[in-house]
Amino acid sequence: MRNFRRKYYDAFSKYYDRFVALHSRDAQGGLRKFLSAKIPVGTGDFVLDLCTGTGTLLPYLGEKVGENGLIVGADFSWGMLEVCNMKNRKFPNIQILESDVAYLPFKDNSFDAVTCSHAFYELKGKTQEQMLQETVRVLKPGKSFLMMEHDLPENPVIRILLYIRLLSMGARRALNTLKHEKETLEKHFTFVEKLETTTGRSKIIVCHN
Ligand SMILES: C[S@@+](CC[C@H](N)C(=O)[O-])C[C@H]1O[C@@H](n2cnc3c(N)ncnc32)[C@H](O)[C@@H]1O
Repeated sequence: MRNFRRKYYDAFSKYYDRFVALHSRDAQGGLRKFLSAKIPVGTGDFVLDLCTGTGTLLPYLGEKVGENGLIVGADFSWGMLEVCNMKNRKFPNIQILESDVAYLPFKDNSFDAVTCSHAFYELKGKTQEQMLQETVRVLKPGKSFLMMEHDLPENPVIRILLYIRLLSMGARRALNTLKHEKETLEKHFTFVEKLETTTGRSKIIVCHN
């Protein structure tokens, strides 16, 4: 099943950035830039981006942590990572890692921030729970996890496009996640705050312990 999902994302990687531009009005990466601005990190910090996909967020993070910092983009799809690598290989402080986010190959307390954008609702089975446990484990004490997720679009055409995608991945669970992720996060973090974004189509949730 996991292999089937990887293949699905491998195929999707060829159109992914264009799909995002249509759905999130994010052709210039403005939404990822907005997310990056909210992440409390600075020079020399280490940041992990889970389910990094084509890695649009990574250069913004790389700029914040500078040459002494490190950004790791983790994903389990080779197709996505190939596009990610093409976009980011010129940045020496960005590393790309093939990994299932349910099992992170890092020591406890390794990162100054962990991010995950437009991916949590797509995780299947126990993976959501496992990813959050792993996130808490690899974060340094008191440091933040920032998640960006879709708000359900008002435009009916865009909403139908999103539903078609959700149907291909188990619609009911994905929709439930989008509606209730704050409650899910509160099981793992003592502080959980929701922020609106510039497009009004996505939300950011900031969490820490
Ligand atoms: C919708 S894309 C989001 C990409 C990116 N974060 C963004 O904001 O554009 C979802 C990503 O999650 C990855 N993914 C899904 N399940 C995963 C898992 N269990 N482990 C690692 N990556 C996973 C997929 O390969 C895909 O690249």
